[in-house]
Amino acid sequence: MRELKFYTGNAVPLEMHKVRIVQKLNLLPIDDRLKAITEAGNNTFLLRNKDTFLDMLTDSGVNAMSDIQLSAMMVADDSYAGSATFTKLESKLQEIFGTKYVLPAHQGRACEHIISKIFVKKDDVVPTNYHFTTTKAHICLQGGTVLEVHYPEALIVESNNPFKGNMSPELLKKAIAKYGADHIAFVRMEAGTNLIGGQPFSLANLKEIYTICKQHNLLLVLDASLLADNLYFIKVREPAYQNADIRKIAREIADHSDIIYFSARKLGHARGGGICTNNHELYMKMRELVPLYEGFLTYGGMSVREIEAITVGLEETMDYDMISQGPLFIEYMVNELKQRGIPVVTPAGGLGCHLNAMAFVSHISQSEYPAGALGAALFIAGGIRGMERGTISEEREADGSEHYANMELLRLALPRRVFTLSQINYAIDRIVWLYENRKLIGGLKFVEEPKVLRFFMGKLTPVSDWQEKLVTKFKADFGDSL
Ligand code: F0G
Repeated sequence: MRELKFYTGNAVPLEMHKVRIVQKLNLLPIDDRLKAITEAGNNTFLLRNKDTFLDMLTDSGVNAMSDIQLSAMMVADDSYAGSATFTKLESKLQEIFGTKYVLPAHQGRACEHIISKIFVKKDDVVPTNYHFTTTKAHICLQGGTVLEVHYPEALIVESNNPFKGNMSPELLKKAIAKYGADHIAFVRMEAGTNLIGGQPFSLANLKEIYTICKQHNLLLVLDASLLADNLYFIKVREPAYQNADIRKIAREIADHSDIIYFSARKLGHARGGGICTNNHELYMKMRELVPLYEGFLTYGGMSVREIEAITVGLEETMDYDMISQGPLFIEYMVNELKQRGIPVVTPAGGLGCHLNAMAFVSHISQSEYPAGALGAALFIAGGIRGMERGTISEEREADGSEHYANMELLRLALPRRVFTLSQINYAIDRIVWLYENRKLIGGLKFVEEPKVLRFFMGKLTPVSDWQEKLVTKFKADFGDSL
């Protein structure tokens, strides 16, 4: 890894790629932005792309693909069974992870469905470094519960701990003593821990957790969806791996996992998913469900073109120049905001820049969804679509009461290699304006609330006319500017 220095001292993240296909963007005037977010029920998931300027909702399935990925899609072997395209994917995963068996699935949550159905029994517990929404939903559907066994630092929004995604070995041991290994379905480690701000675990921590799992005959299941970011952070933040090749780090991670699954909408920069293992017995158990829910064993619900792209994407993930782009842009954005006193998750993680809504709009109580309100406000202020990662993303308790999230974050995802630095600077500018006018932002309340994963389809309304007041202030400050 060579550091790139700038002569004038104004270091900025430098793109190690060039843009050769572009998509036109549309920045609506503010009145139309207000109309669009109102029609979307103040839920950024329900916005239409044509009304969105910077789509920072997610990096899922929307990372930029390379010329080599696109060309690979042209030579896909489209056959129901025995596709040569699948063999290529299988070989690439075998090469990178050293795992013999590969099961395809149409996306990450499909892998979670299969794994939960096979391994989670009623009243089982799944200790994890942190839950992910779809993972938790699948485990709970089987009658299991998720137990977060992280260090306190995981939830400290502003910190300089380089590995907030680490699992606490002590808490894991306590959980094993309390519930008994027989009632633990598996231990789940999530790379680039999504909901706490894309925070990585260290390889030393994974090894320690794996040792505990083996002592108690427990399976370690790795969610590798955000592995690319975690690989980068191990290399730049874990001194023992400073000089290690990305490929070697990936293999060491795999050597300390029993089952690896991933959303290829993230890992591999295409659209699909997969489960890998070296254990024949585990493979045979999970294999049964693939033709039932996903498709035959050589496509698993994925288009063969996507499988070709994933294979190339996985190889490109072994390239430091490729996996560094996301984290470096995020670090730039986080630093620029932090310097202006704007509350963001630190250290900068992977996936995106996370605004700390609890501090940004500290006057909004959790019962009025601060992260959701900030998401609606940022769309009005700049046509920027973020994702609420707070109480709206939680499920209600069995008695119907709210389960307040540990953190109220507005995630601004940076799909890899999609946005330019000037677009990031525009986002920073609008966030700074919003921060200076934060007292104008008010809360939200549900008008339509689905029972499961309500954040996807739920509709909300502002608790007052705060959005109109925000628009009036914008016009006073920006005149007729978009
Ligand atoms: N695990 C993690 C860590 C994820 O971030 C995701 C998806 C999944 C599993 C499920 O994968 O979407 O392919 O079914 N995260 C997306 C996001 C939705 O926007 O963060 P999937």
